[in-house]
Amino acid sequence: MNFTEIIKKKRDGLSLTKEEINFSTNNYTSGKIPDYQFSAFLMAGFLNGFSKQETSYLTEAMLHSGKVIDLSAIKGLKVDKHSTGGVGDKTSLIIAPIAAAAGIPVPMISGRGLGHTGGTLDKLESIPGFRTDLNLNEYKRILKKCGAVLIGQTKEIAPADKLIYALRDVTATVESIPLITASIMSKKLAEGIDALVLDVKTGSGAFMKDQKDAEELAHSLTNTAKSFGKKCITFITDMNQPLGNYIGNWLEVYESIEILKGRIKNDLYDLSVILAGAMIFLGKKSSTMNEGNEIAIKMIESGKAYEKFLEIVKLQGGEIPYIENPGNYPPSKFIVKLKARQNGYLKQIDNYQIGMAALDLGAGRLKKNDKIDPKAGIVFNYKIGDYIIKGNVIAELYTDNKAVISQVQERIESALKFSYHKVKRVNLIKKEIK
Ligand code: URA
Repeated sequence: MNFTEIIKKKRDGLSLTKEEINFSTNNYTSGKIPDYQFSAFLMAGFLNGFSKQETSYLTEAMLHSGKVIDLSAIKGLKVDKHSTGGVGDKTSLIIAPIAAAAGIPVPMISGRGLGHTGGTLDKLESIPGFRTDLNLNEYKRILKKCGAVLIGQTKEIAPADKLIYALRDVTATVESIPLITASIMSKKLAEGIDALVLDVKTGSGAFMKDQKDAEELAHSLTNTAKSFGKKCITFITDMNQPLGNYIGNWLEVYESIEILKGRIKNDLYDLSVILAGAMIFLGKKSSTMNEGNEIAIKMIESGKAYEKFLEIVKLQGGEIPYIENPGNYPPSKFIVKLKARQNGYLKQIDNYQIGMAALDLGAGRLKKNDKIDPKAGIVFNYKIGDYIIKGNVIAELYTDNKAVISQVQERIESALKFSYHKVKRVNLIKKEIK
């Protein structure tokens, strides 16, 4: 096969065969196709698209570039959740222990913060000692022992995705629904799952700002999961405001602990119950989604989900005293209160700016090798539709970096719009696709 001919075919809007997609993916991964040629291929695909069938072939080729983990030795249907990411989205930390406490094995391979969004690995690593770099034997051992495990992508998992993603990042070909689908699904399918819950975010703090794009991505991900014989439930959920009230790595671990202890009941609690309920349903531990939700609530109220979280943290090397007494965590050098300058209903939040503000405070990376400050972040006290009185504390900023405080204050203030008139609250769940 000749790769130039394959590029030409895609350039001219023709469909590629399974053999052509395998040839392209395998030879790029092994280094036989150079970056400049694969870049042209990616751009042709970006501009002309890939059909459902081509997306499925590409996913399969990327999946088989590495290992597909065999979890057949672990009893029960293995179920994971994937979110397309957002601001304050920490549901993985909450639903993995809930579903595991309900008897569902949860094998989770997660990512780091990307752009303005946080990543599960960075959040977990804010717990002193917590290891996410487990090898596949440790991954299986912990999953078998406690029913949940959360690690980062290893060298063995979809190596083609690692290479292609890095090339997409520098060739302006990230925002392609088929390429995103193949990238996400090749990693998820390699985990050894039987079923998957997807949370596709839409709104100002999501990658898919427009609901139409989010729906297209949701359908593409769902179809691809099903074409591999995996049961899948997909939710399109709101990301026009932070999820929960805490943004930043340790702050998000803290909020997760409070939710697992049943002490916070906010939008994060609601979404966690819905996602965990769907996992419980897909894992056949309930006969309806509603019953799944009720079981999820019971796992929180009985303390079993919190106990499971402690078990996961302990098995992955994390220091339990910080979980049991979060007050022992070293405080930020500066904690600054941002107060409302006027009365009014909170009407709109540019949630991308809130994510970027957290990043400025030290919670994320501006450059690949930047070091994260695990303590840094924002506690954002209000939701769209709340009435705020002049002088109320809208947000508390946590940082060790004094130099960024005034620019962050300005960034947050200009991200908020107020109204004298009552404002409708936001619908958390926009759509469900089965
Ligand atoms: N996350 C991924 O894993 N891949 C993409 O292409 C985009 C987001």
